[in-house]
Amino acid sequence: MQRISRVWLLFSMLVSLPLCSLALEKLNMCMDAKHHKTEPGPEGELYQQCAPWHENACCTANTSAEAHEDNSYLYNFNWNHCGVMSQKCKKHFIQDTCFYECSPHLGPWIQPADTTWRKERIIDVPLCMEDCELWYNDCSNDVTCKENWHKGWNWTSGINRCPSGAKCQKWTDVFPTAQSMCEKIWSNSYKYTTYTKDSGRCMQMWFKGNNPNKKVAEFYLNRGSNTEMAMMTSLTLSLSVLLSILQMQ
Ligand SMILES: *[C@@H]1O[C@H](CO)[C@@H](O)[C@H](O)[C@H]1NC(C)=O
Ligand SMILES: *[C@@H]1O[C@H](CO)[C@@H](O)[C@H](O)[C@H]1NC(C)=O
Repeated sequence: MQRISRVWLLFSMLVSLPLCSLALEKLNMCMDAKHHKTEPGPEGELYQQCAPWHENACCTANTSAEAHEDNSYLYNFNWNHCGVMSQKCKKHFIQDTCFYECSPHLGPWIQPADTTWRKERIIDVPLCMEDCELWYNDCSNDVTCKENWHKGWNWTSGINRCPSGAKCQKWTDVFPTAQSMCEKIWSNSYKYTTYTKDSGRCMQMWFKGNNPNKKVAEFYLNRGSNTEMAMMTSLTLSLSVLLSILQMQ
């Protein structure tokens, strides 16, 4: 009995150690996508809205500058597909690009992607309520023809145009709520939350000073690995009990 539980203790340690180091790696990493660096690190020259990430970033200075351009070489993406996008709306898309390209703390939400242009993507990143609501409010007088901006464009001219049949409509007709916009526009890359920026439970697209998102990622990673630990512990316990019963017979 004693020997068996010692073996199981060793076994569960061997299993949980890699889980812990995996969690640490996920705290500071870059996804495998089109323009991301392989490892995060300092970038002295990050441009304008991407500057908050300069101490530790997955984007290069070039990517940060291109993030501010229309039809930039990053994705040839055309913000002005239904007339010119307003500046106050566009600044949120620039910030969204900075957040996506530069953030080194998206590890908990990185998933494999089955597209030609990237191997990994983000899913359900919990966005702070203010960042989503302000984005929506600042775009509410703009116009678009599509709900999901990842798919379904007409790319024949080299930039995305509205596909035939997709009419330009008021923003608020395409997206009735801030939640529908934040979640649907990039096919669930973001998850709408009612957490506020001071909660430590949501990711901030807009911030000043030290990156507050590391602590948030840490929170979600710990929660995940605590669940894994709890599962391991109960599995180990029930197996030990089972084994000792078998041995008694
Ligand atoms: C970024 O790099 C690309 C490719 O090397 C280049 O074409 C582009 O001009 C650069 N952009 C900036 C803003 O430096
Ligand atoms: C795509 O746009 C081109 C013109 O740029 C047009 O000729 C073609 O019919 C469009 N295709 C679809 C599927 O909308």
